[in-house]
Order: sequence, then C-alpha cells, then structure tokens
Amino acid sequence: MIALPIAVPSTQDERAIPKAGERLTRDAYGRPMTYLRISLTDRCNLRCVYCMPAIGMKFAPRDELLTDDELLAVVRASAKIGFSKMRLTGGEPTVRPHVADLVREIAHTPGVDDVAMTTNGLLLARLAQDLKDAGLKRVNVSIDSLKSDRFTAITRGGKIEKVWAGIEAAEAAGLSPIKLNAVVVRGQNEDEVADLAALTMTHPWQVRFIEVMPLEGVGTVHDEGLVTTAETIELIERDHGELEPLEAPLGDPARVYRMPGAIGTIGFISPVSQPFCSFCNRIRLTADGKLRLCLLRNDEVDVRDILRGGGDENDLIEQIRYGVWRKPWGHGLAEGDRNTGRGMSQIGG
Ligand code: 5AD
Ligand code: SF4
Repeated sequence: MIALPIAVPSTQDERAIPKAGERLTRDAYGRPMTYLRISLTDRCNLRCVYCMPAIGMKFAPRDELLTDDELLAVVRASAKIGFSKMRLTGGEPTVRPHVADLVREIAHTPGVDDVAMTTNGLLLARLAQDLKDAGLKRVNVSIDSLKSDRFTAITRGGKIEKVWAGIEAAEAAGLSPIKLNAVVVRGQNEDEVADLAALTMTHPWQVRFIEVMPLEGVGTVHDEGLVTTAETIELIERDHGELEPLEAPLGDPARVYRMPGAIGTIGFISPVSQPFCSFCNRIRLTADGKLRLCLLRNDEVDVRDILRGGGDENDLIEQIRYGVWRKPWGHGLAEGDRNTGRGMSQIGG
C-alpha cells in the first residue's frame, strides 16, 4: 500500500496573480478559473480498459445532450467571465457531428484565446486539416502502447496504424505542440514506458504518463493497476539515464522533464500520488449540460436547466459563477473517497 499525500491548500503560485484590469473569476479558495474542458459527447469509438466497461456502457439519450447552440451559449458566457482556454474532450470529441464547425465558433468567441482537443486520434487523419483551419491549436492524442496487438487489447478494438496516421496528419496540419497521453496500468503497459518515452528522441512531442484514476465503470483497474509516477520515472531512467527537470507552463498539471539528448519532452501527471489540486484552474462541462466542478467528486451544477428554462446570458453567467464558487477544494483519494456514478467518458477527461 502506498502512502498517499493529502491534498492540502498551498500558497498561490504568484504567476497566477491577475494583472491589473484582468477579468478573472476565482473560486472560493482564490484559484483563478480560466480553463473549461468541454465534453462534446459521451460516446466513443473505443472502449479503453481504464475508461469504459467492455459491454453495457450506457449513453445519454440524444435529447439530454446539449445542442450546438446551447453549448456555444455556455462557451460565450464562460469566456465573458475569464475562461480563455477551451479543451474539447469526450467520450471521443471527433465523433460529434460537425465538430470542425463547433471548433470554428468556439475559436471565434471573444475572450477565447486557446482551443485544444483530447482525442483518441482514430479519425484525425481525416479531420486534422479541417480542425486546424477552423482554429484548433493543438491536440493530445492517447496512445498507451506501441505494439499493435496490445494497443488493440487496451482500447478493445483500436487500430494503432490509424492513430499513427492521425498523429502524422495532425503534425502535417500544424497542430502544435503535439502531446501523447499514456495511462500507465500495471500488467498492461508499464514495460513500455521507456519505449514510449524514447519517441521524444526523434519527435518534438510531449509524451505524458498519467496515473490511472479510480473512475466509475472500470472495475479494479485502478486498485490493481496503479503505477505511480515515481515508479514510471524509475523505469524510464533505468533505460535512458537521468531525466532533466524543466519548468512547466503555469496551470499545467504535468511535471515536465527531458531525456538526455531528446528534442521532445516527457510529462508526468500524478493525480493520485501528487495531487495538483492547489493550482487547479479548470471546470468541466459535461455533454449533458452539467458543470462538473472536480473530476473526482460528484459535485455538479446544471446549466442545461437554465438554457432550457428560458434563462438569458446573465442567468447563465450567474450559474457558472455559482458553480465556480462551489468548486470543491480537491479530491479525496488519499482519504479513500471515490467518485461514483460517472465514468471519464461521461465527465470529459
Ligand atoms: N485514469 C486516468 N486517465 C484516464 N483517461 C481515461 N480514463 C482514465 C483513468 N481512469 C484519460 C485517457 C485520455 C483522456 C481522455 O483521459 O488517457 O487521454
Ligand atoms: Fe474512448 Fe478516450 Fe475513454 Fe478510450 S479513454 S474509451 S478513447 S473516451
């Protein structure tokens, strides 16, 4: 059993202090909220072992999902109160119809200066250029294994060649920087972390290793499969030598390193062993119109009710501010608290 640290408030990062005249919304703990992660759909064309059950995944009925207009109303309202960075997630965001049109609208919303996407990459070969032309800046692509059979097993059906074609298309389209996400699961891919890290020798990418989190619908994958960042670093250093720590941009939960001689970087995201709650700057919008205030807690505030109940933009802004105000301090994994009810694909990763 690993002793897990408890997420306690620490002093504010002084780089987060707003400049004079800046429009910022802060939560009850003083954290500036600038980052909205938008789930475009709870559906996905894969069933990764750490994200969804193999069978029996239940999806929200279509009429419960926000329409394009509703979603854009939330984007406009949140951009007015300081959310400047938007990331489109899912489920798998590229399976949402007209995704490039949505990106265009979001990218042109006053106040929005960064639009990114987290995707499994399967459809990127076809979509990357359209997304870039629409204003998407960058993508994070999930790739947990470099071995074709194993990739198919972890994703329950994904073809790695398609993901590679997607990554190449993203690069060719100028989506930058490209980040690759690998969730490290014992017995699945921890023996490949050094090989995944080695991609940064020849590509200017960031390969990010993510500790598996105990979300709904994935059984015991977390309990049996957690590989802490400390162990992942050890596995990489054993093959490649000591990693050089770099400074990560403000608000980035990753701790960033460089392998000796590499052109890319390596990031470690450690929600379990080293929570980054103290500088959390984000809330999530679920595909069914709830503001999810912390990935690992069930607190949610409904914005769909406001939209469908005839509320105007001011009502929406008020509700978003209320959600921000109710944002919990942090998750309670160290105390044994578990998120229940919603899995990653329903929350927006
Ligand atoms: N723990 C950690 N990361 C997860 N993801 C999905 N499920 C989990 C989990 N249980 C990540 C995927 C993807 C992003 C959408 O969320 O790797 O990169
Ligand atoms: Fe789909 Fe992403 Fe979940 Fe995998 S992690 S099943 S690609 S939503």
